[in-house]
Amino acid sequence: MLPCLMRIEPAALAFDIDGTPYSPVYGDVYHSAQSGPAQAQHVFLDGNDLPRRWAHARVFTILETGFGLGLNFLATWRQWRDDPARCARLHYVSVEKHPFARAALEQLHARYPEFAPLARQLQDVWPPLVGGMHRLHFEHERLTLTLAFADVAEAVPRLRLRADAIYLDGFAPRLNQDMWSPRLLQRLARLAHPGATIATYSSAALVRDGLQAAGFAVEKCAGFGRKRDMLRGSHAPRRPQPAASAPGSRHAVVIGAGIAGAAVSERLVRRGWNIDLIEARALPPTQAPARYAGVFHPHISRDDCILSRASRNGYLYALRHWLALAQSGETLDWSRCGVLQLLGEAERKERMIAAIAAQGFPAEFARYLERGAAEALAGCALAGGGCWFPGGGWMRPMSLVAAQFAAAGAALRAHFGLRVERIARSGELWQALAADGRLIAAAPVLVLANSNDMTRLAPVAQPLQQIRGQISYVPAASLAAPRIVLAGAGYVLPAFDGMVVSGSTYDRGNDDPEPQLQGHASNLARLAQLLPQARIAADAAQIEGAVGFRCAAPDHLPLVGALPDVAAAAGRKLSLGGVQLAELPRRDGLYCATAYASRGLVWAALAGELLASQIENEPLPLEGDLADALDPGRFVMKQARRGTL
Ligand SMILES: Cc1cc2nc3c(=O)[nH]c(=O)nc-3n(C[C@H](O)[C@H](O)[C@H](O)COP(=O)(O)OP(=O)(O)OC[C@H]3O[C@@H](n4cnc5c(N)ncnc54)[C@H](O)[C@@H]3O)c2cc1C
Ligand SMILES: C[S@@+](CC[C@H](N)C(=O)[O-])C[C@H]1O[C@@H](n2cnc3c(N)ncnc32)[C@H](O)[C@@H]1O
Repeated sequence: MLPCLMRIEPAALAFDIDGTPYSPVYGDVYHSAQSGPAQAQHVFLDGNDLPRRWAHARVFTILETGFGLGLNFLATWRQWRDDPARCARLHYVSVEKHPFARAALEQLHARYPEFAPLARQLQDVWPPLVGGMHRLHFEHERLTLTLAFADVAEAVPRLRLRADAIYLDGFAPRLNQDMWSPRLLQRLARLAHPGATIATYSSAALVRDGLQAAGFAVEKCAGFGRKRDMLRGSHAPRRPQPAASAPGSRHAVVIGAGIAGAAVSERLVRRGWNIDLIEARALPPTQAPARYAGVFHPHISRDDCILSRASRNGYLYALRHWLALAQSGETLDWSRCGVLQLLGEAERKERMIAAIAAQGFPAEFARYLERGAAEALAGCALAGGGCWFPGGGWMRPMSLVAAQFAAAGAALRAHFGLRVERIARSGELWQALAADGRLIAAAPVLVLANSNDMTRLAPVAQPLQQIRGQISYVPAASLAAPRIVLAGAGYVLPAFDGMVVSGSTYDRGNDDPEPQLQGHASNLARLAQLLPQARIAADAAQIEGAVGFRCAAPDHLPLVGALPDVAAAAGRKLSLGGVQLAELPRRDGLYCATAYASRGLVWAALAGELLASQIENEPLPLEGDLADALDPGRFVMKQARRGTL
């Protein structure tokens, strides 16, 4: 796999002498001088025979190279919205190396009043300019835009999708060769369904030849504006890959009603599924004690490691998802007050400053604050500066679970107070069985979101670690709490409901479900470190708290996806040495979403969306190498390679 350079250089806002948006970097215009919207219609929609080709489809996927101003997207959206025979779900996936900043996009979109209401919706959810994939939903999630902010050569090999239509819209081939190289066209062909159509404004011989070599039957037709010709074609591969089968009945059993199970259930319900959700706890989320609150913020590393990349996608997706829940009327107990990650010693500070600079993060995502500025935000004295995440904050997970239950509505049938003792396959169905052998529920798909209990029901060739954690509820009157979340050796939240949540311990090998005095004492010590000048008048013996058990994989990444068939893999272990994860034997219809470790809030929404996309064979919301890094089959592969399976 290619190295992944995630630094994003935004596009400059410029115009040529005709007033057409223009790129000084590439020396070309963004669209025909005649009309961007009319060009989008003629070249890309008509060129791909849309809307006819998407009529009555369940899912239709368009892949675009070069998002630019998003005019092709807006024209496609408008066409789809106005089409009574539109497909049920439209996925639009677009790759862009130099996205515009939101303010520039707003200025540009103002030039195309015909798109005004749609453009405003796009601007409202436009992501910060950070590398990676960004999934945005519109039209009650029937239209999904997945933006890959990256160089096309890095992004396209990482896409996991099957395209029905392709828009080739780089700048002119002679000025922007990377967007038209034979290698890229081959890669695009690999992502195309047999019969997928392709269209481009260019009629250059290099493009035509490249497309033909990649397996497209191409023809010239009348171009738009000053262009006499354009190209359109369809994919006619010599060896078509078998089409992925769509699930038959859309009914799943989900085990575990924590934030993992609730998110998976809600994402599937959005796609028309019915869910039986089984939870050992007796109380539904609306009645469960809900004082516990967790923190969310991005993870940053100098080499932009897999954890940083995947959790960045998760963090941004979660924020959009929660805002959408709130906008649709669900109640969430949360605050985006911002998180300051205190860095301590100078070396860590230098590393963080270098990482932020190397990746060119915009200030709305992350920036370093010196002590004075940090103290002004926090409203209290600090030991030093830190990394400021203005979009971060805290959330009560139970309120999120309750909101997702409410959003799922009647399609989600919850069974509380029932522990699944065993799962079994019977014909086409997975059964969830209680200790007395009673069948609780059965469905063709079963998702294990039961955290530390998951590997008991389905092994993954790797034990997961259970790590106890205790948080403390410090009376708000006993200290001057910060106005923002402070994170460092532990974390402290602003005061709310008369208390300050502070945590948390990491107690390996301790399975006491009750708070311990020692845990409160160590949380108070963490608090004193975070707030060096605060006088904390709390007694560890008097304060209350809560205990939970994290579930962690050795690589600190979640497990999301189809479960491996460990026994079948062991039988074929010699042949597994050099193969891809995709070839690993799997347990039909059995999936998991677990091991979120200390980042459940950041992972849950994206993991739910990833799993639902995998089950439905829709484009994945994150890069293929990241999906592989989260694949529950990764340990089997590792062991097969090492010869230890
Ligand atoms: C002290 C502490 C502090 C934390 N702080 C943060 C933080 O600040 N930010 C953050 O993002 N994350 C934090 N975390 C981590 C976060 O809480 C977890 O990542 C998250 O709760 C995992 O969610 P989950 O749904 O996978 O698991 P859980 O919340 O454990 O849910 C699993 C559910 O499955 C049910 N279940 C298990 N087995 C069965 C069965 N056989 N049948 C039926 N039901 C079953 C359980 O009852 C449980 O309700 C913290 C964790 C702890 C312990
Ligand atoms: C003609 S414009 C696209 C116009 C756009 N489709 C629209 O509807 O507004 C070409 C786009 O390709 C992008 N681009 C150029 N080289 C790229 C590369 N190597 N990888 C990804 N995007 C690239 C440019 O930044 C530019 O936004």
